[in-house]
Amino acid sequence: MRFHVMTLFPDMVMGGLDTSIIGRAMKQGKLEIEAVNIRDYTRDKHMKVDDYPYGGGAGMVMQAEPVYLCYKALEEQIVSKNGKKPRVLYMTPQGKVFHQRMAEELAEEEDLVFLCGHYEGIDERVLEMIVTDYVSIGDYVLTGGELPAMVMIDAIARLVDGVLNNDESAKYESFADGRLEYPQYTRPEEFMGRKVPAVLLSGNHKKIEEWREQESMKRTMERRPDLLI
Ligand code: ADE
Repeated sequence: MRFHVMTLFPDMVMGGLDTSIIGRAMKQGKLEIEAVNIRDYTRDKHMKVDDYPYGGGAGMVMQAEPVYLCYKALEEQIVSKNGKKPRVLYMTPQGKVFHQRMAEELAEEEDLVFLCGHYEGIDERVLEMIVTDYVSIGDYVLTGGELPAMVMIDAIARLVDGVLNNDESAKYESFADGRLEYPQYTRPEEFMGRKVPAVLLSGNHKKIEEWREQESMKRTMERRPDLLI
């Protein structure tokens, strides 16, 4: 799977993703992530990519042309590789709220383009021309779309075959079945007077399974009862 991020801050995006599990998957060739600098596509002699909003108001708006040219260059590269135009996800608090099911659906794509805005946003006309999905990562406002794109890429990439070591681990976890995951323990058996639940040391797999099921339900009721409705 290939992720393409259109941004004014490519180092921020690559720096956040090329470590740990996602970094390892990139090195193993299981994923490709590229951050493309929108500024490289400005034709302005001062490399300007933003301007004052028509009608007045605070802040600056990213201009349509560099975003459009950047997308067209990417589109050409993607179409020549996989034969079809990619979905283009614009990171905005005005979008549909991202969740695990959306991650699963997006993980089916071969290429995904993430468009990150900054300042007061991007000229509406280019959004109308290129964006297929408006996506928010939650009801709060961030300074730009880079963190949301990184959050989404992390959540989607770990669902791609071979990215996690143990195939099982993406299946039995929080949200996979609409519930939160059961608590986990590792050595030592006792830590500052707190013991690991005895059932986990029993070797009785059926009992362990039942205990985990109960704990998962209990935890969901306590912490996220909304998931059970
Ligand atoms: N850009 C600014 N805030 C955002 C959010 N909550 N989700 C996605 N993109 C954003």
